[in-house]
Amino acid sequence: MSPIYLTTPIYYVNDKPHIGHAYTSLATDVLARWHRLAGREVYFLTGTDEHGQKVEKAAQDAGEAPQAFTDRVSQAFRDLTHTMGFSNDGFIRTTEKRHYEACQALWKRLAERGQIYLGAYEGWYAVRDEAFYGPDELTERDGVKYAPSGAPVEWVREPSYFFRLSAWADKLLEYYEINPDFIAPSSRRNEVISFIKSGLSDLSISRTSFRWGVPVPGDEAHVMYVWLDALTNYITAMGYPDENAALWKFWPADVHFVGKDILRFHAIYWPAFLMAADLPPPKRVFAHGWWTNEGQKISKSLGNVIDPLALVEEFGLDPVRYFLLREVPFGQDGDFARGALVNRLNGELADVLGNLANRTLSLIQRNCEGKLPAPAAPAEADGALLDPLTSLPETVGKLLESQQYHLALEEIFAQVRGANGYITVQAPWALKKTDPVRMAVVLRHLHTALRAYATVLQPFMPGSMAALLDQLGVPPDARSLAALALPLPEGHMLPPPSPLFRKVESVG
Ligand code: MSP
Repeated sequence: MSPIYLTTPIYYVNDKPHIGHAYTSLATDVLARWHRLAGREVYFLTGTDEHGQKVEKAAQDAGEAPQAFTDRVSQAFRDLTHTMGFSNDGFIRTTEKRHYEACQALWKRLAERGQIYLGAYEGWYAVRDEAFYGPDELTERDGVKYAPSGAPVEWVREPSYFFRLSAWADKLLEYYEINPDFIAPSSRRNEVISFIKSGLSDLSISRTSFRWGVPVPGDEAHVMYVWLDALTNYITAMGYPDENAALWKFWPADVHFVGKDILRFHAIYWPAFLMAADLPPPKRVFAHGWWTNEGQKISKSLGNVIDPLALVEEFGLDPVRYFLLREVPFGQDGDFARGALVNRLNGELADVLGNLANRTLSLIQRNCEGKLPAPAAPAEADGALLDPLTSLPETVGKLLESQQYHLALEEIFAQVRGANGYITVQAPWALKKTDPVRMAVVLRHLHTALRAYATVLQPFMPGSMAALLDQLGVPPDARSLAALALPLPEGHMLPPPSPLFRKVESVG
């Protein structure tokens, strides 16, 4: 099995982390954990984007030197990985020495291949997006011009190096054609294709009006355009320019996870830079949608930024992780509503999954002295519970590998609901007196089903599923997908159960 390389965007350190950052990384984390569960070798990278005018300005506003400022804010993003339970293998900062070396090596390689020339840039620039815009993309309000993202633009005129992006249009279109899954969801593909077909200009890739960036090799009056610098992080972390580095085998990336606002950089500029440097482009870029807060656009000026730390403190980590991936189809925009989170927590996690676990495990505890009953051949009545378990890992795997997280959770919970129906109909509590042998069989089947649900849910809710697997008596080395084929022995002792999810009473 080939190794898997998954990345998040590297986050601007102009401000503290919010729900949008947590969301992109969460999706990456779940897929990384899934692949590991399936026995694959995985590298999951995240980090911080620390150069450019926007960060320099944020440091100035904070009255700090840029390096001290970025050290402090970058740490907040590192802390977020712990708070959210992310299993990243690496954390990269663009102010690291290895990254300067990689950027300069890539620049030199592009220059040697005739892909860079010196000119002058004159046009519109949005510092908030760190992006150049054509005049036809702008709208004007009260004498101020705005980019489609809503960011104000300013007129820039300075000497600049250019990358021959225009020469790569056909190669990019051909790459999308040959790799139909490169841009996902597929609805975003046309957007990118029509942007290219409307005409690609060469890209300004250096700035001279400020200093906070990676110096251009051989011409230190210029610093590199922050997006060229930032995108390079994905190969810096794999050891570039040393293509014999131990991690280089992970390149090209399997999936770059990004928000829809930064798709253009990842699906156009990045593969063009790589092709121009004769390096393989990434295999896939997935652009997810944006969250609103109770129907409103999230913005600092509206004061409605959602702090992931506060959410986790209030609801617990796993309910937040579950909600974010269950509520909204990945790829679409969605609304964050407290009421919706509370409903999912109470109505699905506690009432459906928690309840099934609690009923099953309490009965094993009470009626079987905490000893796991023997495996048994399924009767006809058990088919509805047991048959769908066989294909569960494969079904979930297919959905996750196409980033359809909500459908994966829907599928799992449809089965958990079915299991609740099974326990109600079989009523093992009543069988205790009438047919204790059948009671033991029913409880064993329920145990088998719960083990399968908990196993495939681990990537989504690592903490509570570890607790459930503990309660099911599944040893830590028997929690992979492959281990599902190995039944636990009869008489295996189970610890006393305790509730997995705490219900939240009020919507507040
Ligand atoms: N630094 C660049 C990325 C460079 S990658 C080589 C950047 N950083 S960012 O901090 O501004 O944004 C990072 C991610 O957060 C983006 O994927 C963006 O889509 C996401 N989100 C920001 N606000 C969001 C929401 N309200 N909802 C969902 N995601 C959002 O861009």
